[in-house]
Amino acid sequence: MVVRFIPMDSGFHCDRAMQSLNIRTLSLSNMEYKQLGDTNEKLPAIGMGSWKLEMNEESVAALKRGIELGMKFIDTAEIYGTEPLVAKAIKGEEVFVATKVWPSHFRHKDVLNSCRNSMNALGVKSIDLYQLHWPNYNIPIKETMRAMEELQKGGKIRHIGVSNFSIKELEEAQACLKSSKIVSNQVEYSIITRDPEDALLDYCKRNRITLIAYSPLGHGELFKEKNRLLADAMGVIGSKYGKTVGQIALAWLVSKAQTVAIPKAGSIKHVEENFEAGSLKLSSEDLNELDMLSESFQKNPLSIEFWQKNGEEFGRR
Ligand SMILES: NC(=O)c1ccc[n+]([C@@H]2O[C@H](COP(=O)([O-])OP(=O)(O)OC[C@H]3O[C@@H](n4cnc5c(N)ncnc54)[C@H](OP(=O)(O)O)[C@@H]3O)[C@@H](O)[C@H]2O)c1
Repeated sequence: MVVRFIPMDSGFHCDRAMQSLNIRTLSLSNMEYKQLGDTNEKLPAIGMGSWKLEMNEESVAALKRGIELGMKFIDTAEIYGTEPLVAKAIKGEEVFVATKVWPSHFRHKDVLNSCRNSMNALGVKSIDLYQLHWPNYNIPIKETMRAMEELQKGGKIRHIGVSNFSIKELEEAQACLKSSKIVSNQVEYSIITRDPEDALLDYCKRNRITLIAYSPLGHGELFKEKNRLLADAMGVIGSKYGKTVGQIALAWLVSKAQTVAIPKAGSIKHVEENFEAGSLKLSSEDLNELDMLSESFQKNPLSIEFWQKNGEEFGRR
């Protein structure tokens, strides 16, 4: 099966797909699409993550529902173990599939091997976006990028991306590529973790690199007691639009230029809710208020230990 995403000039629109599907209950018309890097492809502003999805039929049904609605952009990784689950959901569908190679596989031959394994697990002939999951200072980035470029030239992957890369790490990786361009950097970004706003977001904007926001609902922490004050305040804004706190969080996030989000949802209900956020336009006053409200709240939901553990294991200081 060839999994391809619809080029931006194809005239594909979410509402057209929806009309043909005769879906009535959701507001479908304006799912925002964003350009992928400097390519001529567009991604839905809200895609779907797959880390920690249960390996069961409910998860497949949730992903399938998202695809049906137009969230035709799914993120996975070899380390998640969810590639076979994603394979079930995308079978026979046109979906943009992003996966990642884990840093311990950054040697040239290992990258090629991981890519082959991911293609097999996903049941695709080419991977739309292949990402380096974390920087690995123990293996020369030049060697890794040579393998990535080789995969792209051979048609095994369509686009090269990175994840958890700083600006410096991004620039070093880009400098190793002969003719390819890194199209995306996937980093943690949500209303409760705004680190990319320090500099990365602006860098991505200037260099036409898509920022793929992971853990856009704060890994679920947004709905926990420690963020209750923020969530309550967001709820007040949400009530003006008839939207939930999660939808406000996603709409706020994808209001940022160059940014797309990949919430993970294990149920059809959550998928539908997240999808609707893709067509929600918040007023500039409300966006400013959300910026202010979030400033004094919880940071780093994935915890500092998570970052330190991965950083130290692969030699980052
Ligand atoms: N590159 C990296 O290093 C990296 C790291 C982390 C994550 N990621 C990617 O980013 C994706 C998303 O991040 P994440 O999984 O960490 O966290 P997330 O998407 O921020 O949050 C997921 C949590 O939010 C809940 N949720 C989803 N939709 C909801 C809704 N509409 N209302 C209420 N709760 C909702 C989910 O519950 P249910 O499951 O019950 O629906 C789950 O508990 C991952 O799946 C993965 O693909 C990448």
